[in-house]
Amino acid sequence: MVDFTLTDEQIALRELAHDFAEKEIRPVAWELDKDGGWPQDIINKAHEVGLMNTHAPERFGGPGLGYLDGCLIEEELAWGCSGITTSLGANGLASAPIALGGSDEVQDEFFGELVAEPKLASFCLTEPGAGSDVSSMRTRAEKKGDKYVLNGQKCFITNGTYADWYTVYAKTDPDAGHRGMSCFLVRRDDTVVIDKKEDKMGQRASNTATVTFNDTEVDAKYLIGEENKGFKLAMMTLDRTRPGVAAMATGIAQAAFEYATEYSKERVQFGVPIAMHQAIQFMIADMATKVHLSRLATWNSAVLLDQGKRNTIESSHAKRFASDSAMEVATDAVQVYGGYGFIKEYPVEKLMRDAKIMQLYEGTSQIQRLVIARETLLPRRAEAPAAA
Ligand code: CAA
Repeated sequence: MVDFTLTDEQIALRELAHDFAEKEIRPVAWELDKDGGWPQDIINKAHEVGLMNTHAPERFGGPGLGYLDGCLIEEELAWGCSGITTSLGANGLASAPIALGGSDEVQDEFFGELVAEPKLASFCLTEPGAGSDVSSMRTRAEKKGDKYVLNGQKCFITNGTYADWYTVYAKTDPDAGHRGMSCFLVRRDDTVVIDKKEDKMGQRASNTATVTFNDTEVDAKYLIGEENKGFKLAMMTLDRTRPGVAAMATGIAQAAFEYATEYSKERVQFGVPIAMHQAIQFMIADMATKVHLSRLATWNSAVLLDQGKRNTIESSHAKRFASDSAMEVATDAVQVYGGYGFIKEYPVEKLMRDAKIMQLYEGTSQIQRLVIARETLLPRRAEAPAAA
């Protein structure tokens, strides 16, 4: 049975997140965008009201919310500002591999800290020479006694400057391609150097940094999952987090759609509000369809996870469609505003810049198509058992 009815708890979560976005995020979002400021106050407040670490398991002190719950929250927060939401949500990306492969002892320590305090964790996969092609990474982890020693550089790391923990992927068998990669949980120390904070086109209230590991020693207990099985752990992580990115893209599109709709009713040209012109009506209709379908695809990809099913293709459908739609809807919102849309004083200019990254991070729209094509053409994948 297909049932899109939200539970009372989910409706309340959605309202909490919307209210937070309206009262705490929107009033400062455009200012933080202008200055590239860091939303520490908002992070503290979001932590306090339970809008961070929503997937932290209950047995380690977290709220243990489901994937659909998380998507409902992320859409509403991104309706407020997707840059700030990226800062708030990055713990979820860094935490997913720990929940999948960390020992009870490590999960207790890690989730215990994140739940107790507004601490941050970063997911370190991408390198200057290894973006879409994950297995070409060069960061090395060498086993020395009961420790691993990490050396290498990661780039485009969300919250890299402020994180206390890093979930780091490195080669443990450099000649084995994707079968020689492992995942480690690294606590920040003096050997972890933050080299560069990026000056970005959009989502300027999120922090994006280069993180370098210089002979960083990691106790063997912080190896997450099995040695040399890190690639699959990364892929399983992205299956779990791409629905959240799709939800954020839906939030951007919803905001752009609302601004454009309101403006079209106020702006008068040729003697009538521009909403009376069919040219504008059709744009508004296409925007509404894209927002609606983005939300449905997002919910579907999240519900499968909540049901314990593999969602690789649905996750890529949602991420690809919602991201591309957010870019299109935000661009059309600027078009509806006409020349005013191009001016920073009006809200849709920021949304258009913010939307662009949705097509890039956590796998570009082209990588999502690659995943969809492979899942469609290779029954090996489609028939694979549900990931843990
Ligand atoms: N679940 C489980 N296993 C999977 C899987 C999945 N979803 N996808 C692939 N695998 C398995 C395959 O079955 C295969 O297994 P075997 O070793 O048993 O054969 C293995 O993994 C290798 O798979 P591929 O041959 O498909 O690997 P590939 O090298 O061709 O890469 C890819 C596939 C989809 C292109 C992948 O590299 C990818 O997703 N790239 C994009 C990376 C990405 O999204 N980066 C974002 C970084 S995070 C970020 O952006 C956030 C931030 O903070 C800014």
